[in-house]
Amino acid sequence: MKNKYKLIYEGKAKKVFNHDDSDKVIIEFKDDATAFNALKKAKFEGKGKLNCQISARIFELLIKNNIPTHFLELKNEKTIIAKKIKVIPLEIVLRNNAYGSLCKQTTIKPGTFLAKPLIDIYLKNDELNDPLITKDRIELMKIISSEDLDLIIDLTLKINVILKSFFKKIQLKLVDFKLEFGFDSKNNILLGDEISPDNCRLWDLNQKNDTIVSLDKDRFRNDLGGLIEAYSEINRRIDNFI
Ligand code: TMP
Ligand code: ASP
Repeated sequence: MKNKYKLIYEGKAKKVFNHDDSDKVIIEFKDDATAFNALKKAKFEGKGKLNCQISARIFELLIKNNIPTHFLELKNEKTIIAKKIKVIPLEIVLRNNAYGSLCKQTTIKPGTFLAKPLIDIYLKNDELNDPLITKDRIELMKIISSEDLDLIIDLTLKINVILKSFFKKIQLKLVDFKLEFGFDSKNNILLGDEISPDNCRLWDLNQKNDTIVSLDKDRFRNDLGGLIEAYSEINRRIDNFI
């Protein structure tokens, strides 16, 4: 990125730069991958571009379905222009099937279908290791009002309906995903961050039996290999469908 743009923030998977328009930011997707609060780190050449393309098309789909988001446009292969938001320090996870931390922390068996999608909310705080948080603690900490939290939960459930049906059409099971929200300059709540195989669990439905084939960051988390191949396959299926 040319140094005309000032780096405002660097996260684990993205860099955020200022834009000439102070209501906008430029977001660059990095090739870095981290897991377990960055205890595990690696670089995958091409991941940034793939996530940028995948995320841009998913945000376009959500916008078409009237979900308010920060996404404005693709700037280049691995960069988007987005509305500037003040990020709410909460990670909203929605689970359609049990997997990952839910199975480590409960006796629920991996893969179990959850008749009612489960919403788990985590405090976005690396020092504290993003702990699971309750509605009462969110209120106590005055992170957001309970009305705004209800709105975020409602948006997350709506996003799940849209994404689940979209991914099913391209033979992918949406197991779970993580969202982040923020406030724009007029205090509207917008969906922020990205939606990509870095923050969704996507299982291939083109499998005989019930074999689980992860086409997401679990390939890195669980040392399965083939991360770029998996992300490319998702990108290819979206390309062929849209
Ligand atoms: P979990 O099972 O590890 O709690 O993850 C649930 C979903 O949230 C999964 O799709 C991965 C995503 N996720 C993130 O995007 N960032 C994170 O820091 C964590 C822990 C999970
Ligand atoms: N975001 C987590 C990390 O920082 C990784 C994950 O998605 O599991 O390492």
